[in-house]
Amino acid sequence: MTQVKPFARIVGSGGFLPPRVVTNDDLAAELATRQIETSDQWITERTGIRQRHLADKGMTTSALATEAARRALADAGVEAGEVDLIIVATSTPDFVFPSTACLVQANLGNKGAAAFDVQAVCSGFVYALTTADSFIRAGRARCALIIGAEVFSSILDWSDRSTCVLFGDGAGAVVLKASDAPGILGAELHADGSQMNILCAAGNVAFGQVTGDPFLRMDGQAVFKQAVTVLDRSARTVTEQAGVALSEIDWLIPHQANLRILTFLAKKLDIPVEKVVITVDQHANTSAASIPLAFDVARRDGRIQPGQLVLMQGVGGGFTWGSVLVRM
Ligand SMILES: CC(C)(COP(=O)(O)OP(=O)(O)OC[C@H]1O[C@@H](n2cnc3c(N)ncnc32)[C@H](O)[C@@H]1OP(=O)(O)O)[C@@H](O)C(=O)NCCC(=O)NCCS
Repeated sequence: MTQVKPFARIVGSGGFLPPRVVTNDDLAAELATRQIETSDQWITERTGIRQRHLADKGMTTSALATEAARRALADAGVEAGEVDLIIVATSTPDFVFPSTACLVQANLGNKGAAAFDVQAVCSGFVYALTTADSFIRAGRARCALIIGAEVFSSILDWSDRSTCVLFGDGAGAVVLKASDAPGILGAELHADGSQMNILCAAGNVAFGQVTGDPFLRMDGQAVFKQAVTVLDRSARTVTEQAGVALSEIDWLIPHQANLRILTFLAKKLDIPVEKVVITVDQHANTSAASIPLAFDVARRDGRIQPGQLVLMQGVGGGFTWGSVLVRM
């Protein structure tokens, strides 16, 4: 019998963004043709977003996820056949079923791994990472592929300027392996379903039709306030439980929704903003993909180094939130 190892460790990461870059000016010009007024100045000042990558029609979540997964596996030096657990966090799956994770599995040529999707919107990646960590620590998996992937552009109401300027498409992935050394040091997840209305896409496919509203709707100010409050509380809880001081965190990677949320959070936690990985300016909000994409960017540009402490934090529709503390 193989011995259960006590930790799950990140051994590789990868990211993939659709090649089409749409700047704020591009978007403002496009919306102007439909008498919808916005500007680079408004978007930059309120959100910090300067551009986003958008998938061309037909480019699916599973396609983005597969490319990010391939890059993460290559980075980890892991063959697809070695993976025994695949979790995709997404709110924009290709199909009602099968899960996007099963589609990725087929694309990678893996057979037999457990594969399923996690639906926790912009908290999806921390939910998926925590789930995989639990599988590995329980001895139910040894090598997990965790992906956050979205084509959020497909659920945006492009006539609603208060939401359509905020989001982008993309995918990020990590490979987790059972290890004797830490690893994921701590995690905590929460939800409050009574707040579902502040951020939702309350539609469904039933009886051959879309029922309800197929587009994302948001009360921006309510989400902003909630996000800052729960991320602050969650960062304190997860570090306290792991016996780590906030001042020891080398890199804070919150969900990339809005630069003002990131800077406000850093200030509340007394973490220098230089220690916050920021990609929202380049990627906009890619929902479940935002944290693994930011993580991969900071690993590849050499900011995140072995031995360092990284705090990842998700927040989003549900309302959901959570944190994962990682020793690299
Ligand atoms: C969405 C958000 C940027 C809006 O910023 P805000 O400062 O709260 O702005 P408001 O919604 O109060 O809107 C202010 C004005 O800007 C206008 N406006 C909204 N979107 C606009 C746009 N894209 N361009 C120009 N004007 C816009 C509004 O119509 C409003 O005009 P009015 O005062 O004439 O009514 C901000 O609330 C936010 O970032 N919230 C968090 C969203 C988030 O992170 N969601 C994802 C979480 S997972």
